[in-house]
Amino acid sequence: MVATERIGSYIENFDAAMGGGIPVGHIVLVYGTAGTMKSSLCFNILFNEILKGKRGAYISIEQSSLSLLKQMVSLKFDISKVNIEVLNDADDVIKGLSKLKSGETHKLTLVDFGTIRKQLRTIKAQKKTSKNDFAFSDDMVHTILKIAETLAEKDLCDVIVIDSLTALYSLTELKDPRSEIFYLFEYLRDLGLTAFVISEESELNSRFSRFGIESYLVDGILHLQLTERNRKVTREISIAKMRSTSCNNDIFTLEFSGSKFKALYGGKIPLV
Ligand SMILES: Nc1ncnc2c1ncn2[C@@H]1O[C@H](COP(=O)(O)OP(=O)(O)OP(=O)(O)O)[C@@H](O)[C@H]1O
Ligand SMILES: [Mg+2]
Repeated sequence: MVATERIGSYIENFDAAMGGGIPVGHIVLVYGTAGTMKSSLCFNILFNEILKGKRGAYISIEQSSLSLLKQMVSLKFDISKVNIEVLNDADDVIKGLSKLKSGETHKLTLVDFGTIRKQLRTIKAQKKTSKNDFAFSDDMVHTILKIAETLAEKDLCDVIVIDSLTALYSLTELKDPRSEIFYLFEYLRDLGLTAFVISEESELNSRFSRFGIESYLVDGILHLQLTERNRKVTREISIAKMRSTSCNNDIFTLEFSGSKFKALYGGKIPLV
């Protein structure tokens, strides 16, 4: 049998719970309520994969690139070790990201889609686009996928984070959620990317999904939560699903210290 190539979760003690890591090419839903460190956890994976020589892209739909970078600096990630390029120019997106150099190493492309979207609206209102323009569509999801495709073609992306699926839904009205979400994930799969898709848990979103189908369409689900016990709140993580992998589905305490994530006490009641 061919061994599955995997990437690390970069959470100490956690890869053993999923056969050594996340299979390359998987689409993984990272699901949790506000402030459960979804963005930080995904950034940590991307950052460490880039340090190992892979290329990565982080598509932020609502949080500005500046706010995201500030959070990462406050978590003491040494961002000077990676070659960060912020994409926030809609003109460049329309022109097919022609300014981006192919195949740069240690590259982290941060796509500030909130800013790009605002500019696209103005450009569209002023009808400044031409027939030859690339990746310009009323459909923002299509535009995001085109950006991902171009990054992959320019050999700038092995691992991608989309932050978040919930924000992406707010950009578009899904008439046929099952087939449109299927198309979105298949598009990323066809690009050969390992993708982390963040999803916000709320009362509106039923367990693991908004439309009740995302959890079936993705290959893996990591669930982050804050649990209250005796007036103390603990961060927790569990693997709800990971295809082609024998998993330990126990709930682990998730700690972040010394710019490292650690998984502790899987399946055990932590000492209080
Ligand atoms: N050392 C630290 N520095 C900064 N924030 C920290 C640190 N340790 C834990 N945090 C917590 O990380 C959380 C923010 O992380 P992050 O933005 O990754 O969460 P999120 O789940 O993506 O949030 P949101 O739901 O707003 O998108 C904050 O609640 C903050 O308290
Ligand atoms: Mg976030």
